[in-house]
Amino acid sequence: MASELRLGVNVDHVATIRNARGGGHPDPVRAARAAAAAGADSIVAHLREDRRHISDDDLERLLEAIEIPLTLEMAATDEMLDIALRHGPHAVCIVPERREERTTEGGLDVVSGHNHLKRFVDDLGGRGAIVSMFIEPDAAQLDASLSIGAPAVEIHVGAYCDAMIEGDHALAGKLLERIVEAAEYGAGIGLKVHAGHGITFDTVGPIAAIPQIEELNIGHFLIGEAIFGGLDSAIKRMRSLMDTARAEASA
Ligand code: PXP
Repeated sequence: MASELRLGVNVDHVATIRNARGGGHPDPVRAARAAAAAGADSIVAHLREDRRHISDDDLERLLEAIEIPLTLEMAATDEMLDIALRHGPHAVCIVPERREERTTEGGLDVVSGHNHLKRFVDDLGGRGAIVSMFIEPDAAQLDASLSIGAPAVEIHVGAYCDAMIEGDHALAGKLLERIVEAAEYGAGIGLKVHAGHGITFDTVGPIAAIPQIEELNIGHFLIGEAIFGGLDSAIKRMRSLMDTARAEASA
């Protein structure tokens, strides 16, 4: 059972702010370097089909500049597969993508996308990437991820985080239970279990306490919080909340 809990810092929204004006500031590569210095274990970037935040040039510069692993989030399209195979990131997280969505709104349907997705796992895995499927906490999705040969999954915890933030503790409790069960089930069948989406200082504790989860990927909240106290301080506080929750859960 994993005791280590890694933190991946998603720098997409540094690019969102830059793109609001054009030009080069603020630079997601500078943010990635700062995140690494603050204790991030990896950097995450989502190259979307519409390039609304991270650009192809950002991806190239990130891969050149950072010394910690890079996780590329991408849709299961041929264009993205070509890019990922060309660049060879350390890890790839396959996410569903719809042009009109503001952010990744739900998990991937690996059950019905089985045949299509298997090629991505085979090709990217063959290139040495750790491929994960971004899925809802659901046993059928975990089974399907395993059956296409994915070594890892990332559980979408956004609904739980939203319920917590809205103060609906009854719903949050039920959604957390589903995440706990999915993490236990996923690790039990041999998958590496990650989690992400919507995590804040107020929601991270119960997720970090789940012992089977090996990695949290966090973006929007950290970049937003950096406006008030800096990226270094936001990441260090998140890291400390994660570590405390994990230590208390295993005590
Ligand atoms: N993990 C995945 C797979 C995502 O798509 C995202 C959003 O890009 C995140 C984690 C980070 O979510 P947030 O920005 O809400 O922290």
